[in-house]
Amino acid sequence: MNLSLLHPKVNTIVREAGVYIQKQQGQVKAQEISDKSLNNLVSYVDKTAEQLLVKKLSILLPEAGFLTEEKTVTQTEKPLRWIIDPLDGTTNFLFGLPIYSVSVALAQDEDILLGAVYIPVLDELFSATKNGGAFLNNQPISVSKTTTLADSLAATGFPYYKFEQVERYMAMFEKYMRGTRGIRRLGSAAVDLVYVACGRFDFYFEFDLNPWDIAAGLLIVAEAGGQTSDFAGTGSAFSGKEILASNGLLHGFLLEG
Ligand code: IPD
Ligand code: CA
Ligand code: CA
Repeated sequence: MNLSLLHPKVNTIVREAGVYIQKQQGQVKAQEISDKSLNNLVSYVDKTAEQLLVKKLSILLPEAGFLTEEKTVTQTEKPLRWIIDPLDGTTNFLFGLPIYSVSVALAQDEDILLGAVYIPVLDELFSATKNGGAFLNNQPISVSKTTTLADSLAATGFPYYKFEQVERYMAMFEKYMRGTRGIRRLGSAAVDLVYVACGRFDFYFEFDLNPWDIAAGLLIVAEAGGQTSDFAGTGSAFSGKEILASNGLLHGFLLEG
């Protein structure tokens, strides 16, 4: 498989899905929105964007399977698969806010080979291939050079459906609220990650995500020179249960314990 040949083709497909989503913003009727679970909204836009991605990516690489948020295609355990969040930031999208994205990764087991995140409203396409560097609209990007927490800007996602770990979350939140220049909550984990990759944020933390929220972003952060892990720093962030992403220089200061 030639990743550098695949890369621009995947970027084009991800961009097309984003253009479709942006055209639908403001068009979705209340009766077209449903709750998949507590505070987990979905509409035809998420599903149609996923179908569009699946159709085009299947043609591009017929041997790869799929792990997708909306389950519009048979989910496979194949080691080689596309990991897709067709619309990351659905709540923002449905409330008319501009921060949402399309996130697509190609992974061999947990080894992420290619990742693309597109933010349609800003026309920002972040992408990376393994060992090939990270890019924003085809220009190389790298993480920030911030060396102290006091100088850093953080991003997070608030717990909104699973509240067992709220105390643990609030302890981290308070530490960073007091110890940094500020904390932002944009509402799209994929955007949080790519903003760490291009140095707009120095670090990002969140609990209870899924691989489709972060797979593309994890590779883009790594290829931009950053670091990702669980909160102990010993495990991978791939599952999304605990995700800490940073410019690498701050990572040691951020580990729990
Ligand atoms: C959500 C966004 C949000 C994060 C949530 C995710 P969705 O994804 O990434 O920032 O806090 O946990 O579920 O549901 O909009 O695809
Ligand atoms: Ca998501
Ligand atoms: Ca989604």
